[in-house]
Amino acid sequence: MMIQRKGIILAGGNGTRLRPITNTIPKCLLPVYDKPMIYYSLSAMLLCEIKDLLIITRPEDKNSFKRLLGDGYQWGIKVKYAVQPKPRGIADALIIGEKFLGQSSCVLMLGDNLFYGNGLERKLQKLSRSEKNSVLAYEVKDPERFGICEINSSGLVVSLKEKPSKPKSNLAVTGLYFYDKNVSSVAKKLKPSKRGELEITDLNMRYMENNKLYAEVLGKGFSWFDAGTIESLL
Ligand code: DAU
Repeated sequence: MMIQRKGIILAGGNGTRLRPITNTIPKCLLPVYDKPMIYYSLSAMLLCEIKDLLIITRPEDKNSFKRLLGDGYQWGIKVKYAVQPKPRGIADALIIGEKFLGQSSCVLMLGDNLFYGNGLERKLQKLSRSEKNSVLAYEVKDPERFGICEINSSGLVVSLKEKPSKPKSNLAVTGLYFYDKNVSSVAKKLKPSKRGELEITDLNMRYMENNKLYAEVLGKGFSWFDAGTIESLL
């Protein structure tokens, strides 16, 4: 059965690793070549065939994003806005978005993630139309910096760890997530981590424990960037 998901882009956070640039400009509005960073996650959402999109920003940045993206009419979608007063974690986005999502399944994307590659359209369309809960995995050289997963031969995620000191694989969980309609209630049951955040990896672990989390590996021909540091932004 084909399903219609709603989309959430999380574009908050303080961008501390990009200071002083982010002292006055929110990270996701910084230019990446010829466009503001958030255009790249917006285009991924369009490839996922999203028609209803929620953009979550810091309270002080909401109007800048609105000025840039408006109500979405020019892309044939509906864009709404919500704020995250404090960076309480990535999974917090799914609590903020609870009303917006209603009974829909969703795609959550971090506003500083960029995907590029031949066949991306087909891959995203497939994941978005499928009823499975999925993440995209990408082989990295510095697994200590990311959420890291192991996958079995059926594509099920069998282990997950946020920024492991002894990584079991090089497969990073990227910032694009596909969840079913229960995700807000799962997120509401999470406890803050040591760094005081509702961790997306903890949420993914709830799905994994029920054998309900799949990973699709982005192989050769794909690039993924997390533009959270000066080096990766460059
Ligand atoms: O980029 C992929 C990685 O993103 C994953 O591999 C990790 O599992 C996941 O935890 C996350 O790791 P980071 O340490 O890179 O997350 P960071 O705190 O940098 O947040 C990512 C983006 O989300 C960033 O642009 C700011 C935004 N954000 C983050 C938090 C915690 C918010 O808007 N609100 C928040 O509360």
